[in-house]
Amino acid sequence: MAVRKIIRMGHPNLRRPARPLLLEELQSAELQRLVADMIDTLHDYGGVGLAAPQVNEGVRLAIVEVAGGATRYGDLQQVPLTICVNPEIDVLDERTAGYWEGCLSIPGLRGYVERPQSISVRFLDLHGQAQSLRADGFLATIFQHEFDHLDGRLYIDRIEDPAKLAFEDEYARYVLPREAADARA
Ligand code: NI
Repeated sequence: MAVRKIIRMGHPNLRRPARPLLLEELQSAELQRLVADMIDTLHDYGGVGLAAPQVNEGVRLAIVEVAGGATRYGDLQQVPLTICVNPEIDVLDERTAGYWEGCLSIPGLRGYVERPQSISVRFLDLHGQAQSLRADGFLATIFQHEFDHLDGRLYIDRIEDPAKLAFEDEYARYVLPREAADARA
């Protein structure tokens, strides 16, 4: 088990577009190790996704894993560990929805971001086979958030109202109760 250090906002490599992986790299020992380490790192830090640039590797690789069930984001569809090489997104429906996103590279903060809520994701698996899946709702947000990292983009770039950036404690204290009240209204 090798947990890698997650680099944080301010590290210039989080802002560099990552390069595509070549087919012949996919079965290399180095890439297999990187993937195994990213899985260990995601499990150790806790989270639903991790992109290679967050462990300071500038390649187009991201992993997503969602346990599913009831979460603060509502009832989540379970997503088994999915390893996405050179992913692309097709927006199926431009209508957006907003969520308070967090990021392992921006610890302690949450920000409200609106994104398209119905997408199709195309990527290669580690065998170089083309895969695709459809993601709706918060899952669509997760994939877009992770793939943004591959373009050197962070969720804070997409916050339209800077007042909707908060520390986690204040988010829990002031924002969550208000949203619960809204949901009951
Ligand atoms: Ni992130």
